[in-house]
Amino acid sequence: MKVLKARHAGACYGVQRALDMAYAAICDGSTAYTLGPLIHNPQVVSKLEKRGVGVASSLDEVSDGIVIIRSHGVVPQVKQDAEAKGLPIIDATCPHVARAQKAASGLADEGYHVIAVGEAGHPEVEGMKAHAEVSGGTCIVVAGPEELPEHIEEPVGIVVQTTQSKEALDAVVEALHARGIEPQVKNTICFATRQRQEAAAELAEQVDALVVIGGRNSSNTTRLYDICKAICPRSHHVETPDEIDPAWFEGCAVIGVTAGASTPEDQIDSVVERLESL
Ligand code: F3S
Repeated sequence: MKVLKARHAGACYGVQRALDMAYAAICDGSTAYTLGPLIHNPQVVSKLEKRGVGVASSLDEVSDGIVIIRSHGVVPQVKQDAEAKGLPIIDATCPHVARAQKAASGLADEGYHVIAVGEAGHPEVEGMKAHAEVSGGTCIVVAGPEELPEHIEEPVGIVVQTTQSKEALDAVVEALHARGIEPQVKNTICFATRQRQEAAAELAEQVDALVVIGGRNSSNTTRLYDICKAICPRSHHVETPDEIDPAWFEGCAVIGVTAGASTPEDQIDSVVERLESL
């Protein structure tokens, strides 16, 4: 049985960087906390917890130790509150997210009314919105053109949640054009998610069965699984190699492997090893 890995799979640059920073923070025996799980991967989060990186739901639960800011960033107030409590901060905000935050505050500084294209309530989007507001501007969040309010103040500046699709951005821009509004667009999409989805679809066309690795609470992994399953019905979502059932691959010559953006390389390797041993 041959095992093929997707061209783009597993931990993206920002997630890997956050993991590296978290491990580096505790290498001298220090205790650290992330505000919410560092990544949507229960195995990695529990490994980090054993090593000294706890999960706090808010700063109120942290009285000492290092505060690690997750890859999707925070609202500026969180950093200020941590500083006021005298807590050291390690900022693992992905540079692509930081760029989006900067774009939001820059547009607000220049007097634009900011529209953030993304998922309302998502921590990354809340962070972008707060950055615009801290700069004295306004920011509304829309997932698509249907959520645009009736009255829109001009001039309009647009920023985009890093994991959004270009189609969602284009649809919002087109709807504004149709209303005679010419927005200033800062395309802050990071293409790691799309690369993984396109590579998974490509792989699903070439294999008899497919294994998608990643947390069941990870939305990008679930989306990858849905894409694969639609093309290759013998697709399976696992978190660990011991979930693999050899019966899934009866009569298969080629098996594909892909993984969500919060799945580190060692988890992929262990699944590949298990498959190769069958
Ligand atoms: Fe950063 Fe893009 Fe990953 S924004 S966290 S590299 S999906």
